[in-house]
Amino acid sequence: MGLRFDILTLFPEMFDGFLGASIVGRAVRNGLAEVHLTNLRDFAADRYGSVDDAPFGGGPGMVLMCQPIFDAVEHVRAQASPPGKLVLLSPQGQPMTQALAEQLAGEPRLILLAGHYEGFDERIRTALADVEISLGDFVMSGGEVAAMAITDAVVRLLPGALGKEESLDEESFRMGLLEYPQYTRPREFRGLPVPEVLLSGDHAKIARWRAEQSRLRTMQRRPDLWEAYLKRQDEAAQTDRDRPRENNGEPGTVEQGG
Ligand SMILES: C[S@@+](CC[C@H](N)C(=O)[O-])C[C@H]1O[C@@H](n2cnc3c(N)ncnc32)[C@H](O)[C@@H]1O
Repeated sequence: MGLRFDILTLFPEMFDGFLGASIVGRAVRNGLAEVHLTNLRDFAADRYGSVDDAPFGGGPGMVLMCQPIFDAVEHVRAQASPPGKLVLLSPQGQPMTQALAEQLAGEPRLILLAGHYEGFDERIRTALADVEISLGDFVMSGGEVAAMAITDAVVRLLPGALGKEESLDEESFRMGLLEYPQYTRPREFRGLPVPEVLLSGDHAKIARWRAEQSRLRTMQRRPDLWEAYLKRQDEAAQTDRDRPRENNGEPGTVEQGG
């Protein structure tokens, strides 16, 4: 059984192209993931399809009401088990990261709840959300693009989702660093050459160059990631120093019995 995504949205038609193409489309066709779309408007209680109302206390815009959202979540949960982690998409959530994508890829089921208008009645957040995720510090008109981004980032981590020509091993963020620069043919384009080392055929030298470029890029572009990387390196070195030495047979390291 593949990882089951339930996406709750007012605009299911936005997902048409996304779910049929590329790595996500292939993973769905191969049964690694299944994606079920639910239209929140189907859970409106009146014949006008109302899902939102004016905010208490006044102010602009409309707020998504509890009733259609609670009903929709209960409906999809009754369709399959386990109940799944409910991910509320919100600019106020924790920022999406590769580490979070890896965590979510280990779940059996994810329910992604996309908002619209001014967002959700707060009781939806407090009573239903297991985790709130933001795509970044900017506001979009709806959660659909965030749902697609998270689905894509998670699906490509599922074992077998990538073809053998694609690899996760050296990607950006994998080791907490950005990936090194990549080049392909031709060797020179409009006077712009490929770095000599990549044409050398010396695999050890290429690996060293790539590792160095990866560190350099991270240091220059993402001081936050670089600091965290250095801290992890320090901690790893410290753990190594603290580890009791194994008896390697050298003089003076043999424990003397009492
Ligand atoms: C216009 S936004 C609501 C913003 C809300 N009034 C606020 O200021 O926090 C409508 C919906 O789009 C989605 N959304 C907007 N920006 C997002 C972001 N950066 N990350 C994830 N979802 C976002 C959320 O589902 C949100 O409920």
